[in-house]
Amino acid sequence: MNPLNHVAIIMDGNGRWGLKYKNSRNKGHKEGLKTVEKIIQITINNKIKYLTLFAFSTENWKRPKSEINYLFNLLETFLKKKIDEFNKKNIKLKIIGEKKFPKNIKDILKKSENLTKKNSALQINLALDYGSKKEILNAIKYISKNKLKISENNISNSLYTKKIPDPEVLIRTGNTNRLSNFLLWQISYSEIFFSKKLWPEFNQKDFIRIIKKFK
Ligand code: FPP
Repeated sequence: MNPLNHVAIIMDGNGRWGLKYKNSRNKGHKEGLKTVEKIIQITINNKIKYLTLFAFSTENWKRPKSEINYLFNLLETFLKKKIDEFNKKNIKLKIIGEKKFPKNIKDILKKSENLTKKNSALQINLALDYGSKKEILNAIKYISKNKLKISENNISNSLYTKKIPDPEVLIRTGNTNRLSNFLLWQISYSEIFFSKKLWPEFNQKDFIRIIKKFK
């Protein structure tokens, strides 16, 4: 069996890359999307079953409206363009997070999940409007409301990631060594790799090096 089933990534550094090379944070997000595509392919090649990507945190709502709109437009265009390819490559898409989005975004997310729900080679969990403390709090509220026993299993099974094995590896790019409220329950035993590279600079070789090091 593959010892590596699940990789989670905090894709940090788009804004800094964009400002440094293109004088625009948004251009950094656009470039970051190219890295997302490369990483998806390496994940498939290495038969890793789950890839969780931190794309928008509950804290990201504090960013300028123009940047938030840009990110949502990027996401919408990406999903519209990629859904056929996801089906061809047998990729399932799951959204984890609060999902407090404008209707057009909610609709495209739901549609993308539905159109790919039977796929099984790779599951991409896209963390959007995601915060780990909120996720754990919601799980505890659910347990209390349904009068369930407070246990590790019941908490795990009440998170957005229920039925998904915990990640063996967490990667954070962008030269920042912290967890930023991402998967705090699920990464209890994960190996953590911090990369100094900004997300748009992170490449196939960097990812493969981490996979090899873990194995
Ligand atoms: C963090 O960089 C990155 C984000 C908040 C967004 C991640 C988005 C992408 C990789 C592209 C879009 C993805 C999809 C799936 C549509 P930052 O802006 O915090 O960078 P900084 O630390 O340099 O400011």
